[in-house]
Amino acid sequence: MLAPAATASAAALDRLMARGAAFFGSRVAIMGGAMSWVSERHLVAALSNAGAFGVIACGAMEPPRLAEEIAGTQALTAKPFGVNLITMHPRLDQLVETCLAAGVTHIVFAGGIPPGSAIKRAKEGGAKVVCFAPALALAKKLVRSGADALVIEGSEAGGHIGPVSLNVLAQEILPSMAKEVPVFVAGGIGRGEAILSYLEMGAAGAQLGTRFVCATECIAHPKFKQAFIRGAARDALPTVQIDPRFPVIPVRALQNEGTRRFMEHQAVVLERFTAGVVTKDEAQLEIEHFWAGALRRAVIDGDVEQGSLMAGQSVGMVAREQPAAEIIAELMAQAEAALAARSLAVA
Ligand SMILES: Cc1cc2nc3c(=O)[nH]c(=O)nc-3n(C[C@H](O)[C@H](O)[C@H](O)COP(=O)(O)O)c2cc1C
Repeated sequence: MLAPAATASAAALDRLMARGAAFFGSRVAIMGGAMSWVSERHLVAALSNAGAFGVIACGAMEPPRLAEEIAGTQALTAKPFGVNLITMHPRLDQLVETCLAAGVTHIVFAGGIPPGSAIKRAKEGGAKVVCFAPALALAKKLVRSGADALVIEGSEAGGHIGPVSLNVLAQEILPSMAKEVPVFVAGGIGRGEAILSYLEMGAAGAQLGTRFVCATECIAHPKFKQAFIRGAARDALPTVQIDPRFPVIPVRALQNEGTRRFMEHQAVVLERFTAGVVTKDEAQLEIEHFWAGALRRAVIDGDVEQGSLMAGQSVGMVAREQPAAEIIAELMAQAEAALAARSLAVA
């Protein structure tokens, strides 16, 4: 049996998570950040079955493939889960229809500001809409356009990142926006104490990605998982751009031979541009194309040398492979212990 203080802090944590959990229809307000190739049916269902909220990463999937993945997830869990759609996907509207036809309850729009029409259609179709807000002005605009909840993702996160840390985004956005809609925090979160602190600042819950890569249920290649277990925060660095004329969207990943070759690749393309062999547009495209398929090569094929090892700074807190339910229980226990310690301090 739990000691009275432990029961009280568990109840207090439930209260802090109540708004976020009600929004998702989950037991705890922890969202599995969608990760391309990684967040497929197995991890998503495992997270939802563990009481959290799993989210399928649609990535570049075409509508029929997404329909298959949603049906596969529904076969593994009766709990709610979401689908993350990248706004620049050429068939965004059809993907929204695919989600609605399958009865998906939550659509997360990522990778840019979604068109108002997509938000409207998703809501008309009965789904709740979650959008990423990279700044306060955009957070307000997204809520005016109909977003039911927001994610604020700091530059500590894995994958494509913005320039501002979660520490700063939380201070800028939570005080005004948390009153309006549930706001979920993401980026660099690896422990329950951090989740608790953001809940106390007004967040409705947290979205974690990196921490779930080494879930037993996750299909990522054992070599990909091994790289996460070995990786330290300082190894998860953003890609570097070597010429201001050729912007590179920063991607935070563990450094490997691929990231070193990317620097060489940029230099070679720049030389070809300077020599007049390729136009500016061709050069920009060549730079961008370097990473095409690289995440798949690492996650699925286990090519951890040349593939992309997208990971957040929280990677240093990934210590071993463990079931999703155990990771969720660990995060909750850490948050509860921190709450209990606080109530002892003021007693
Ligand atoms: C391998 C990997 C792939 C990702 N792919 C996507 C994606 O397809 N769409 C998206 O919105 N976010 C993507 N993300 C970001 C996560 O959803 C999440 O916001 C992020 O991992 C949070 O930071 P953390 O990794 O420090 O927990 C990806 C992150 C990682 C590590």
